[in-house]
Amino acid sequence: MTEDAFRLTGPDGKVTTLPVRKGSVGPDVIDISALYQEQGVFTYDPGYRATGSCESDITYIDGELGILMYRGYPVEQLAAKSNFIEVSYLLLHGELPTASELEKFDNTIRTHTMLNEGMLAFFKGFRYDAHPMAMLSAVVGSMSAYYHNEMDAKNPEHRDIFAHRILAKLPTIAAAAYKLNIGQPFMYPRNNLNYCENLLHMLFAVPAEPYQIGPIAAEALDLLFILHADHEQNCSTSTVRMAGSSGANPYSAIAAGVAALWGPAHGGANEAVLKMLTQIGDASQIPKFVAKAKDKNDPFRLMGFGHRVYKNFDPRATIIRDMCYKVLKHLGRSDNPMFDLALELEQVALKDEYFIEKNLYPNVDFYSGIIYRALGIPTSMFTVMFAIGRSVGWTAHWREMIADPAARISRPRQLYTGPKERSYVGIDQR
Ligand code: SDX
Repeated sequence: MTEDAFRLTGPDGKVTTLPVRKGSVGPDVIDISALYQEQGVFTYDPGYRATGSCESDITYIDGELGILMYRGYPVEQLAAKSNFIEVSYLLLHGELPTASELEKFDNTIRTHTMLNEGMLAFFKGFRYDAHPMAMLSAVVGSMSAYYHNEMDAKNPEHRDIFAHRILAKLPTIAAAAYKLNIGQPFMYPRNNLNYCENLLHMLFAVPAEPYQIGPIAAEALDLLFILHADHEQNCSTSTVRMAGSSGANPYSAIAAGVAALWGPAHGGANEAVLKMLTQIGDASQIPKFVAKAKDKNDPFRLMGFGHRVYKNFDPRATIIRDMCYKVLKHLGRSDNPMFDLALELEQVALKDEYFIEKNLYPNVDFYSGIIYRALGIPTSMFTVMFAIGRSVGWTAHWREMIADPAARISRPRQLYTGPKERSYVGIDQR
């Protein structure tokens, strides 16, 4: 390999030069777009472990060093100094806003929080015990039925309105799903409240009496949304890009991202962590479950551990663990058995050879559920909370993809291992 190319010699001796492209930071990439045409072969990378699917300016992660940056700003600094609305502006527009830009953006989000009354009617069609993620993906998808004629993806103003609606309305849809599950009346948003206060109001207020928003609850949610806001080309973000690449209505592309996030290997892990901790029960059972996680014949995995990219630690997990302790202490529940069990499980796993060898550390989902539960949010709503935070990342990536003049439909190839050509056999001869 020279400074800027790989040379590949095919079985027939033909040499193909594959250019190397350099990013602003992080690994270089080999541009293989000429490979099939020149060598008649595809690359093969199931799960895309070593494949860059696109060029992006939005988020950078370094799995070895545990680095996460949004538009170049370390997430630790944003978690300590910023707030979710400001971080959303940064992810969508690429720069931190001035005071007037932030005020305008915040006001715009506050004035897009209501749903069309027809959209609210969908909730009357769901069973009372429908999973909130099922309702979220259905109702977000229905947004394409309300805004299809105001959506010219090539129009920057339409791309802005789309972003504002997704960011503003997901908390309202999420809260409506929760209220359906608990049989309480839907609470309309209050635009005099900030983003997280409004969500808490819609989740926990009732018409019968005033609701006092806990400041620590709003602070914790804001931090969690910052930490969940974006994460490069993860499964759900890649799904949004893939769906959007065909020119599909962007609200449908976001609904596809919601569906992908739901899986327990991805955003559904926070719900799975709480179920796992409940299953473990107490610290005496930890060795048994760690052994199950290591047993190749046992499908059990330690949920909230491991990551495709982070091979030392997930910087978000560290910040969330500290916030978890702060919330529990503030609520007078620092002796929370679930948190104590999680801390003990982390200590045991981090000392275990298997987890060390396979680079398995707590990820973003390991502690977040304990905070949500302490705030009174049920386990079934945990992934919905993840989706609210990630909605701005999905939207930012869709905008980046759709605004790229070189963008084309995503269409991977395959290694075919099925039957070779054969002729049809009549049913009387089978
Ligand atoms: C998120 O991509 C992102 O950025 C995602 C995310 C985001 O912000 O968008 O960070 C959010 O999805 C976090 C991950 C949440 N998922 C979980 O906590 C579920 C439990 N973790 C795993 O299922 C797994 O670790 C993944 C899915 C997270 C990563 O899977 P990979 O990269 O495909 O790794 P792998 O499954 O190939 O595992 C490598 C090895 C395997 O053993 P071997 O086949 O090499 O012998 O590690 C083992 C796995 O069996 N392993 C685990 C394990 N995770 C991996 N063993 C026990 N417990 C686990 N949790």
